[in-house]
Amino acid sequence: MDAKELNALVHDREAALYDDRFMIRYDGAIGRAVERDVKRLLGKRPSVGRALDVACGTGYLAVGLAAAGIAEEVHACDLSPKMLERTRDNASSSGASVRLALCDAERLPYADATFDLVCARGALHHVPSPVDALREMRRVLAPGGTAFVVAEPTAAGERQVAVVVGLAVRAVEGLRRVRRIARDEEHHQWELASMAANLHTFEPAEIAEMARVAGFSEVSVGSAAWAWVLVLGLNYYLAGEIAFLARNRVARTLARSAIETAAAFDRLIGDRAVPASLRHTVQAVLR
Ligand SMILES: C[S@@+](CC[C@H](N)C(=O)[O-])C[C@H]1O[C@@H](n2cnc3c(N)ncnc32)[C@H](O)[C@@H]1O
Repeated sequence: MDAKELNALVHDREAALYDDRFMIRYDGAIGRAVERDVKRLLGKRPSVGRALDVACGTGYLAVGLAAAGIAEEVHACDLSPKMLERTRDNASSSGASVRLALCDAERLPYADATFDLVCARGALHHVPSPVDALREMRRVLAPGGTAFVVAEPTAAGERQVAVVVGLAVRAVEGLRRVRRIARDEEHHQWELASMAANLHTFEPAEIAEMARVAGFSEVSVGSAAWAWVLVLGLNYYLAGEIAFLARNRVARTLARSAIETAAAFDRLIGDRAVPASLRHTVQAVLR
């Protein structure tokens, strides 16, 4: 099995759990959240004709762009059929219209210069050749358009998440031993496969270099997020491991509050005060 087949397989399985694990809610708030993220990144609210979300997953950017009315026509594509089904359902429950395509980010099925805005969130680290994916994003971008990539993991961030989640793993396993509950081996194997589908981490300068090689002439990169990813990583592990936590309303409300507080901390303080070498994600705006 190659890296793309592995990615399609694990994300097909992940599709059912994804929104609980990443605490994404497809309701009236999705448009506001994406509009805030995009404004923060681009320095203004764009208003475009056609937008594309590459490796859309369950549709966070695509549904948000459509719900916020940032683009008149929103397209989204992914390698995983089940993720696309989730995007379709999430778009419909948010009253948004998104056109879908099943494809590989390294070979987009769109004509040159089709989109005014091309974006990818948490995508490049799953693609065997990120530079080829960036080249495709560049090819389908119309002259004068903008592309961006966000939420790509850094090596330092992954190490910190491993420490925090490692403590949670020990606590959960200790609890299981005391209560004599066997680990779900099948779930455990899927988790390992899912980790193997994370192919890369990046430094901002690496994304900048790849973007230039891919043909972008204006490249602006940066890093962000600290508390948000640590809390999200913890929720990702616990919600996948303990079904009760993913289903229970009180537990979900508490987890959501913790994640939103951590994200607000990063926006207000962390993204300025936490040293760049400790930050968890890399983003780039490309033209
Ligand atoms: C971490 S998820 C991010 C999903 C979404 N963009 C978000 O922000 O929630 C990564 C997504 O990339 C997709 N993916 C992995 N490899 C891909 C490839 N070569 N081409 C297109 N999509 C791919 C997966 O199926 C998955 O939906």
